[in-house]
Amino acid sequence: GANALDAVELGVKICEADPRERSVGLGGRPDRDGRVTLDACIMDHLGNIGSVAACEHVVHVSSLARAVMERTPHVMLVGDGATQFAKEQGFPLQNLMVPDSEAEWTKWLEKAEYKPIPNIENHDTIGQLTLDAEGRLAGCCTTSGMAFKMHGRVGDSPIIGAGLYVDGEVGAATATGHGEEVIRTVGSFRVVAAMKSGRSPQQACEDAVREIHKFFVRRGKPWADTQIGFIAVSTRGEVGGYALRPGFSYAVASADGVRVLTAESLLDS
Ligand code: GLY
Repeated sequence: GANALDAVELGVKICEADPRERSVGLGGRPDRDGRVTLDACIMDHLGNIGSVAACEHVVHVSSLARAVMERTPHVMLVGDGATQFAKEQGFPLQNLMVPDSEAEWTKWLEKAEYKPIPNIENHDTIGQLTLDAEGRLAGCCTTSGMAFKMHGRVGDSPIIGAGLYVDGEVGAATATGHGEEVIRTVGSFRVVAAMKSGRSPQQACEDAVREIHKFFVRRGKPWADTQIGFIAVSTRGEVGGYALRPGFSYAVASADGVRVLTAESLLDS
């Protein structure tokens, strides 16, 4: 009975608040300077958008992205500006580094090799898409991004069109995995555009992953450590999910219950 926008925000907040979830919100892995910086964005069926990037000290960056959408004339705030806005809006500010992250970062500093590994724990972002009983769509995604990234690095998750896209007359898509590749190919917009031209959510996710793979091949870049996953939902409630390589799972919840599905992938391993 709730509206889609509230549902996506409330859904991802569970993950943001969980210190055991090490790639989102509280407990997210830090950058190479030991600073936990978070990215998030939110979009509704009307095209309202809000986003924050490289934001420190705020657990619920999904809610902060929504506050940018609803309480400012802008669509994106980054870095200190995002944190300053959070403070002004009464969001609690806190240390997001948990002891496990601190220990991992200290160990990483022994070699300090800058080799961020996407897909380090299956996938690295939570994205939620919701179609409500009134037929309204909304989406939200939130992440701490790549572990031990360069300070200031921003991935796809706060970039509307890359990490998330919603078209209230067509469907919605969101991405996880190697953000640079998703930005390069404007991944989530690509999925929704394919749905607009008649592809099912499943086919549209597959098309987008194939395109990303083509970009790798064209540029002669290795993709061995890279994972990309997309999920999508249409306004009719059809869903799809697909990944570059095995290991990407996603959950589909409806009145019939919750199913956790393992996505098919383009590559075998
Ligand atoms: N997909 C999350 C990131 O690359 O930051």
